Amino acid sequence: MGGNCQILLINVILYTKLFGDCFVKRNYGVQFLGIGSALPSKVVKNADLEKLFDTNDEWIYSRTGIRERRVVDKDESGLSLALEASKQALENSKLNPEDIDLIIVCTATPDMLYPSLSCMLQGELGASKAVSFDLSAACSGFIFGLVTASQYIYSGAFKNVLVVGVDVHSRFLDWSERSVSILFGDGAGAMVLSSCDVNNDELLGFVIKSESDKKLDLTLTNNNVHFADLSKNIEANFVKMNGKAIYQFAVDVVPSVVNELLEKTSMKSFDVDYFVPHQANKRIIDMAAKKLGFEESKVVSNIDKVGNTSAASIPLAIHHAILNKQIKFPCTMVLVGFGAGLTWGSALVKLNLKSV
Ligand code: ACO
Repeated sequence: MGGNCQILLINVILYTKLFGDCFVKRNYGVQFLGIGSALPSKVVKNADLEKLFDTNDEWIYSRTGIRERRVVDKDESGLSLALEASKQALENSKLNPEDIDLIIVCTATPDMLYPSLSCMLQGELGASKAVSFDLSAACSGFIFGLVTASQYIYSGAFKNVLVVGVDVHSRFLDWSERSVSILFGDGAGAMVLSSCDVNNDELLGFVIKSESDKKLDLTLTNNNVHFADLSKNIEANFVKMNGKAIYQFAVDVVPSVVNELLEKTSMKSFDVDYFVPHQANKRIIDMAAKKLGFEESKVVSNIDKVGNTSAASIPLAIHHAILNKQIKFPCTMVLVGFGAGLTWGSALVKLNLKSV
């Protein structure tokens, strides 16, 4: 009896040490097979915003690091962006749409409340064997999506999973107001994950967190008809943000969650090849990199060209860096996201994409 208990305890300790704090038996590992991204065609430069309200390129660039962003035109949508990014990721993975078992679309700005963007995407792709759902974690969406996908792969439930981060915030911005609309851009990024031998797992660790934004510092409402008050005018749904509070939240949680992940995976920042933070503000990115000890050459950023693309931001930044030949494979990357909810999280991944 005592001997059996001891063996059980040793097993628990071993699993905990190897696989994190959850007692989950892994049957498979996760391998990253492909990546893709898409941006709308319309470029909106800071100078274009000067025509809408009292602002200027110097103010926007010095406070945020953003020079321009892309916004959807009438013939574009979250679906068209997600479709383009997914097609690239599938081609890159050398998989067909019918090979995909699960599609997770991470978005806070779906084209419709239902049908979900993921089901629409499944149909457009012709991923006839997949099951699809949307995941809502705002700008942390892609990290939460990767972690969710990995659990299905670890358990053996699904083999090939498409994870898409896509947001079209331009439809939810008050374009007469300068404090929030300067920050966001539209875009999509996609990755294909597949199962592999448990010893070749490329998701080396993760930490995800959330808490209630009780003060409602970052909101996007979903106001509509209220039966109790049918005579009332419907208020438009716009992103509202207490910029200073969210800035403080980001500078607190980004270094702390990355440090927790590094400790959990017994890594130091100098062991990691690239740091890929959510592209919300260049000042937050620079401060986090400095606090964590990532040299400038390791920091992946495209915020100057795309702004804050929310759930698309991390895969979009990785894909652009690969296309710009900034990434050498194989490599390790720390990804970190934060956003509304409040939500935040970080993942340590190994990337060895063969052809992009
Ligand atoms: N152009 C010119 N002036 C402006 C603009 C603008 N676009 N916006 C604000 N100002 C003015 C203000 O009116 C204010 O003027 P005053 O001093 O005369 O009152 C002054 O500039 C300073 O404004 P602040 O709001 O204090 O500017 P701050 O330095 O805080 O920067 C910013 C604002 C860039 C929004 C910053 O707070 C920030 O980056 N916050 C974090 C944003 C973020 O990361 N969001 C993540 C969202 S993720 C998600 O999940 C959706």
